[in-house]
Amino acid sequence: MINQNSKKVKKIFNKISYKYDFLNNLLSFGMHNLWKKNLIHLLKPENGEIWADLCCGTGDLSFLINEKIFPKGNVIGIDNAQEILNIAINKSDRIKKNKICWKKKDIFEIDESEKFDGICMSYGLRNLESVENGIKKVFRLLKVNGRAGFLDFNHPKRNSFASRFQKIYLRLIVVPISGLFNLRDEYEYIENSIKVFPEAKNLINLSKKIGFKDVKYQTICFGQMGILLLKK
Ligand SMILES: C[S@@+](CC[C@H](N)C(=O)[O-])C[C@H]1O[C@@H](n2cnc3c(N)ncnc32)[C@H](O)[C@@H]1O
Repeated sequence: MINQNSKKVKKIFNKISYKYDFLNNLLSFGMHNLWKKNLIHLLKPENGEIWADLCCGTGDLSFLINEKIFPKGNVIGIDNAQEILNIAINKSDRIKKNKICWKKKDIFEIDESEKFDGICMSYGLRNLESVENGIKKVFRLLKVNGRAGFLDFNHPKRNSFASRFQKIYLRLIVVPISGLFNLRDEYEYIENSIKVFPEAKNLINLSKKIGFKDVKYQTICFGQMGILLLKK
């Protein structure tokens, strides 16, 4: 079942798709590429493995995994917003050594008979209608001993410098700059989505409750971002 929130999120990402990579690079000063590389480095995909990049957007993680699993493995990049997926597909057409396939699908509708050695998600979990159901879905899609990694905003300690910085950065940099491209409302949505996103300790407890045997969380970029690493 696709609920209203999911429709709203899909609309947002279809609308911002044409500027998504440009604004990501500009607003993070290119650092999102390093954070994504860091996630893939920790997950260690290997040649021959089958991986899924859920909520793949323009495909950054899929491309990084492709370099590791090539030539024997496969990566599938899945997103439910066609226009952002089209950007991934166009970029992918320019790569010769390519074992990526792209699928337009809601992640909750992925057939669970399909099993993966690894699953990754960057800035996707926070956008799902239910974080808990998202992690449960990943659990069911993984092979035994499969591993998963999620990169997203972290909740810095309340009233800390990092927490104030996050608010100021979102309100005074992200929103005004995206406003120049008529995307103010869409980027304003980030702050609210972070507010309702679980803190690290809750993500850890939730993952343990779901059944992951190995659960780790680490912050990066002075506590602005977090990586949740799971093993089934
Ligand atoms: C913030 S973007 C992240 C894109 C990419 N992973 C990145 O790090 O640049 C979130 C993506 O999640 C996708 N998304 C949100 N909910 C989804 C769902 N239920 N199923 C599939 N994709 C979803 C959106 O369409 C969007 O492309």
